[in-house]
Amino acid sequence: MIDLTVQPDRLERAVRRARERNIIIPTYKQMKNPALIPAKIKAELGQIGLWDVNPRNLFRITWHNTPQPQGGSFGGVNYLELPPSLTGTPARIIVLVGKWFPTGAHKVGAAFGCLAPRLVTGQFDPTSQKAVWPSTGNFCRGGAYDSALFACQSIAILPEGMSRERFDWLAKIAGEVIATPGTESNVKEIFDKCWELRKSGQDLMIFNQFEEFGNYLWHYEVTGHAMEEVLQQVLGPHDSYRGMASATGSAGTIASGDYLKQLFPGSKIVASEALQCPTLLENGFGSHRIEGIGDKHVPWIHNVKNTDMVVAIDDNAVVKVARLFNEPAGRAYLAKKGVPEAIVGQLDLLGFSGISNVLSAVKAAKYYEMGEHDIMLTVLTDSMQLYGSRLAEMRAESGEYTELNAAADFARYLHGQSTDNLLELTYAQRRRVHNLKYFTWVEQQGRTYEEINAQWYDRNYWTSFQGQAEAIDALIEEFNSRVGIQ
Ligand SMILES: Cc1ncc(COP(=O)(O)O)c(C=O)c1O
Repeated sequence: MIDLTVQPDRLERAVRRARERNIIIPTYKQMKNPALIPAKIKAELGQIGLWDVNPRNLFRITWHNTPQPQGGSFGGVNYLELPPSLTGTPARIIVLVGKWFPTGAHKVGAAFGCLAPRLVTGQFDPTSQKAVWPSTGNFCRGGAYDSALFACQSIAILPEGMSRERFDWLAKIAGEVIATPGTESNVKEIFDKCWELRKSGQDLMIFNQFEEFGNYLWHYEVTGHAMEEVLQQVLGPHDSYRGMASATGSAGTIASGDYLKQLFPGSKIVASEALQCPTLLENGFGSHRIEGIGDKHVPWIHNVKNTDMVVAIDDNAVVKVARLFNEPAGRAYLAKKGVPEAIVGQLDLLGFSGISNVLSAVKAAKYYEMGEHDIMLTVLTDSMQLYGSRLAEMRAESGEYTELNAAADFARYLHGQSTDNLLELTYAQRRRVHNLKYFTWVEQQGRTYEEINAQWYDRNYWTSFQGQAEAIDALIEEFNSRVGIQ
């Protein structure tokens, strides 16, 4: 269970801080259904930009934001259906769009999911403690942003090899930015930095997304519910929801698969990773370019026993498809191949891991021989907004992108996706992946033998976290009423 023990003295300080800064915070109910947000707050949001460091933007931690950078309100869940002309599978591939969260990525919600219970119990004191956000990219951006809204100090930790855009923005928002050695999959170096900080004697709290069940719960409740809403809209009388695919950076997002599998017991959960670092697939290691999805370990909060398939995506496919989707010659070629203009014009909604997620969904759809009435869901964590510098680098390295490049990339990396580098997990294979957790979490990170076994053998382990949103909401409501802002 997420610890909800209240520490009254510290809580009083957090309430006072919130009152001084005019901060109230959204409940899970409101994040799932913004119709419950008071009209006064909605009116205020009309004057506030999506990325502005304004505490009212806490209420924009939802999949329902109007897709506009300034002054939007709330509508339906932001999603897109990608047509077979693009995906090369007759199955319906539907993607939730993360770009329209503050910070341009849904991980701001996962960060909030970790922070909120600590704040409304008084466990985290924003007046004296620094919030530390270890991450492979967007979680620390989200955490630094959430911290800025609470006017508390933050430390963002991310690998030095990540995109320029992330560092430029963090320099303005985070109190301190620590770039750890290596690239994307060097997660151990991030954990080492956390231990160093713990031992430094500073008064800080580490929100480690890879093990924090606030991350799991936020995606289970909020992303899971958003997916359910989309399915209610798109499922026709002959359609079936068949499954969801998600890369497992921290394995927060994939918790939405747990939610959906409870509603649709026959549905599948597909975990993906980079082929250049095939940890889930074959206990492998390596560095890769699919920013945000880490690996070389299995996150503590990954419910592996509930995972049906692992898929590894070649990072070459991701970077080539990124060019195809964003270079003028690529877009012209896609239009020529019959991809509707309205879709072509929105392909910058897919960041690198979004492309990887779509390719994972396509591979699963091909493996399970899905047809036009079968629906696969996935998520676009962020958009090309964070990777303009990467496109410029590719242009400098490989030259202009031509129609010939587009034809080759379309045929090989998009329509040519096969069922290679994919494993449907048997019971024993799931246990093999789960067992990998031992080496990170029990040997290195202080988790116990009993806990790792409870994750596998205790029937109530995962459901005990899933049931905590109501209790957290009650604490949030109490917090808001003590703050006293209407
Ligand atoms: C760009 C990007 N994609 C994918 C992920 C993976 O999502 P999760 O950590 O929820 O597994 C992240 C996580 O931070 C990310 O930043």
